[in-house]
Amino acid sequence: MKIGIIGSGGREHAICVFLKSSRKVDKIYCFPGNAGTSFIAENININLNNFQEIKEKIKNLKIDIVIVGPEKPLVDGIVDFLEKNEIKVFGPNKVSSQLEGSKIFTKKLCEKYKIPTANFGVFEDKEKSLNFLKKCKFPIVVKADGLASGKGVYICDNFEQSKMAVDEIFNGKFGEAKEILIEEFLKGEEMSFFIISDGKTYKKFGSAQDHKRVLEGDMGKNTGGMGAYSPSRLENKELDKKIIERIINPTLRGLKDLNTSFKGFLYAGLMIINNNPYLIEYNVRMGDPECQTILPRVETDFADIIYACVNQNLSSVDIQLSNKKSICIVLCSKGYPDKFENNIEINAIDQIKLQKDNYIFHAGTKIDNSIIYSNGGRVLNFVIKSENLKESRDQAINLIKALNWENGFFRKDIGYKVI
Ligand code: AMP
Ligand code: GLY
Repeated sequence: MKIGIIGSGGREHAICVFLKSSRKVDKIYCFPGNAGTSFIAENININLNNFQEIKEKIKNLKIDIVIVGPEKPLVDGIVDFLEKNEIKVFGPNKVSSQLEGSKIFTKKLCEKYKIPTANFGVFEDKEKSLNFLKKCKFPIVVKADGLASGKGVYICDNFEQSKMAVDEIFNGKFGEAKEILIEEFLKGEEMSFFIISDGKTYKKFGSAQDHKRVLEGDMGKNTGGMGAYSPSRLENKELDKKIIERIINPTLRGLKDLNTSFKGFLYAGLMIINNNPYLIEYNVRMGDPECQTILPRVETDFADIIYACVNQNLSSVDIQLSNKKSICIVLCSKGYPDKFENNIEINAIDQIKLQKDNYIFHAGTKIDNSIIYSNGGRVLNFVIKSENLKESRDQAINLIKALNWENGFFRKDIGYKVI
């Protein structure tokens, strides 16, 4: 079968690698992919906003199944558009994608279905927001409603900071803001929990712990993710049961009441307090870099899983995850998440010797005349799977040192809470 993957990050390269190892997959196309995917798939340079052009390419290339990696095309309705054109797609439709596309949609669903989450209020202008904030206890969290690449969330320690957040959001920093979300600050430990669904049944797809802050010890600015490990140290059977019963099931019931269902990966960003889960946010896709740590642990043929999902037959597949642990360290361009330079050559990458269960996934890279260049803030992902997280981390750091890319930096403490 021929598979198309939409996206160009480390997540999409990892998806590509694990599909490639399936005997059922003859050819993979990446829209647009990166330098890493170009070695095992055909990259199609295309504008991801142009659904019409994407559809024509998919039809011309006779692609059997399309997998959508990132949130933006999902929230914009690419699944509905392609399915209307009789293309099989793995990913949620536009209505379900509001779980990520609108934080207020999700909060209202939590309220209606009694899903545990931080207490919140929705405010439609600056004045009402500030009147409320004047009476609040701090810290407090102020959020823009729509997609903001992780930047629309402000953890505020005092009134002045919250006022700045309200001003920035209503002044349009993340696009036109009709409403704003203000919520209680939850103190606990975060965990990313994944399920995969075919619209009829779903299965757990592992857990992970992301490290979003740019500096060691979880300091500094928020990023797309500096590294992750899987499974989360918080994972246990009792907690799994609570997450399923209190969060996942009522959410899927809520979508059913809207006459729709969820197909694809659903990623619950949770705060765990005393072994009780609270929903912080939903993402309607795999996490990046969580995906890069979970896929190496999946022992079931990944193409079988995706094939079953698009054919509403997931109940027939038994998804096995290895008990081994994996860690991902992200090598970033100096300056990220602020200003950084692109087009810096990365040499010597093909001289790095990878053992079994070692992976280098490309994220922000491109290839020109056989030379690999950086092309983004998060550049390469070093992933190691083993029995021991500390050994995995040491090994990943050794690989990064062997690459010796002068424009790069990374966090040496990924997994520090468990190692
Ligand atoms: P989000 O984009 O909603 O996941 O928020 C980004 C990050 O902000 C989360 O990963 C948390 O670290 C933090 N955060 C968001 N909401 C809350 C909250 N209510 N309490 C504590 N931390 C939060
Ligand atoms: N690692 C966070 C995300 O994918 O949203």
